[in-house]
Amino acid sequence: MQKTREFHRRSITDRDAFWREQAERVLWDTPFAEVLDFSRPPFARWFVGGQTNLCFNAVDRWVESQGEQPALIWVSTEVDQEITYTRRQLFDEVNAVAAMLREQGVGRGDRVLLYMPMVPQAVFTMLACARLGAVHSVVFGGFASVNLAQRIDDATPKVIVSADAGSRAGKVVPYKPLLDKALSLCAHPPKSVIVLNRGLAPCGLEPRRDLDYQALRERHEGARVPVQWLESSEPSYILYTSGTTGKPKGVQRDVGGYAVALAASMEYLFDGKPGDTFFCTSDIGWVVGHSYIVYGPLIGGQATILYEGTPVRPDGAILWKLVEQHRVNTLFSAPTAVRVLKRQAPELLSRHDLSTLRAVYLAGEPLDEPTAQWISEGLGKPIIDNYWQTESGWPILSAQPGVERVATRFGSPSFPVYGFDARIVSEQTGEDLPAGEKGVVAIVPPLPPGAMSTIWGDDDRFVQTYFTSIPGRQLYSTFDWGRVDEDGYWFILGRTDDVINVAGHRLGTREIEESINSHSGIAECAVVGVADSLKGQVAMAFAVLKNPALAERPEDARAVEGDIMRVVEDQLGAVARPARIRFVAALPKTRSGKVLRRAIVAICEGRDPGDLTTIEDPSSLEQIKDALQ
Ligand code: PRX
Repeated sequence: MQKTREFHRRSITDRDAFWREQAERVLWDTPFAEVLDFSRPPFARWFVGGQTNLCFNAVDRWVESQGEQPALIWVSTEVDQEITYTRRQLFDEVNAVAAMLREQGVGRGDRVLLYMPMVPQAVFTMLACARLGAVHSVVFGGFASVNLAQRIDDATPKVIVSADAGSRAGKVVPYKPLLDKALSLCAHPPKSVIVLNRGLAPCGLEPRRDLDYQALRERHEGARVPVQWLESSEPSYILYTSGTTGKPKGVQRDVGGYAVALAASMEYLFDGKPGDTFFCTSDIGWVVGHSYIVYGPLIGGQATILYEGTPVRPDGAILWKLVEQHRVNTLFSAPTAVRVLKRQAPELLSRHDLSTLRAVYLAGEPLDEPTAQWISEGLGKPIIDNYWQTESGWPILSAQPGVERVATRFGSPSFPVYGFDARIVSEQTGEDLPAGEKGVVAIVPPLPPGAMSTIWGDDDRFVQTYFTSIPGRQLYSTFDWGRVDEDGYWFILGRTDDVINVAGHRLGTREIEESINSHSGIAECAVVGVADSLKGQVAMAFAVLKNPALAERPEDARAVEGDIMRVVEDQLGAVARPARIRFVAALPKTRSGKVLRRAIVAICEGRDPGDLTTIEDPSSLEQIKDALQ
């Protein structure tokens, strides 16, 4: 791994020259004057003074050389449809949507919120925002009204773009009613809402507020909207993510740094080139979808597949069928998808011609060894486990086959990626730890191009949240535990905080607790993440009822449990619904009132709860055990 090490070393010690070279991958309207302004740590401004545009680099610049080649391939196994947009058609669609948004008064710096299923119009809208210099904020379609309302009030969008419905596993999932409900909860609702009517669900339009996407699209057919050049550090998007408080954080990303980081990653991490086909099964509501369904492949001149469907419908070979049909070179998915496939017949892996496929990239949650081995042997392809976060925007740890081919190890996302000065540090002292020791995965600032610039509207929270938890020095904390082995392979060992990861979906336990507590029958509750063989983790809730007698009759307890599940689903969405809610008379707490989460998790997972000297009432742990029976 000599070359990888040397490449990484140079990105840190000869930082400006390294990134100056990488910046040549992006077209700049005005060249930058300075590679990095780090005069106000931990804030980093990359490519200062340079003017560029993400839409220009993703769309316009490829029209001449690749006009008739596929750019966006939409496949929906939900509604049985497939549409391919060439570079030129993508350019036309994006311009039309930009004209629609411009007509609604959207311009540079204005926010546009998207609450959309996996349809091409969502990608057009993201790119149209980028074209206008507007800041998009995509909210995951699996989130519901309260989640949505919080994000609307924080981002204060001028326009929201949504749809009547999505579809999941053959079942229509209405979007518009949830949006209407969210808007009724908002302090700052936008003036206009553009609604794509797919004809999937009844969809009333509010006369003075709602506009029909298709009607606007027809009216703006053939429109041309000039690209708005932006200074490199202006915001491109906000993507909300969960932390330890109930209030989600708006991760803010820049323009120039992001374009450069993604463009470079297409070569070094994915070993790709223009004309390739990239297939990422994530959702546009998550960071992986932003970086590797939309911006990365398109900026890199690659065709991208947008897939509305699951890995097992119509059968467990659908991903491989799409790889064969579209001659996919790179597949990017999540460990849960592979664990789902593992429950299917193994022959499904070898039914299709996968000769174009170079490697399968998996991220978003820990990839357990047996799953990695199963898929690697079943496909006969390299499996590249890569570790990153909404905050980082692109991989922090990964094999980098475009730099050097190095053997991977099952269970390890390999090595730090160039640009990330990653360390394993002691939680107590902040010092670097030697190989073999478990510590916090931290990054020495500046964060590289493409990483978050700040928290939307809250610079203080950015510094406080990410850069003050490690004692002794200003380091970015990932809030993950990690360890490096003697050979330099990194391992991720779970979160240091109360964030959980259910099937690759990052959720804050605090948000789920707040939702459960909003039920009038609940006095208090604790939500924890518990190991699960399919989803990695599931949420388990332990609640104290205001009327404990209710829990005594099983049918009453079940009714209350169902009721609370509905509240959570209604407020946050089905993704946040706990697997079970168990009732206890008291939660295990320390004498100072802190809930002993690690002890609860240990009991749920059948492990020893460890040191319990600080517990207020030892019988409360017995109650957790009894509740699990
Ligand atoms: O705990 C780590 C886990 O997912 C978190 C970030 O989630 P999110 O912000 O949704 O971004 C996902 C981007 C891929 C991390 O803090 N995580 C992500 N990738 C891995 C992982 N844990 C173990 N191995 C991974 N490869």
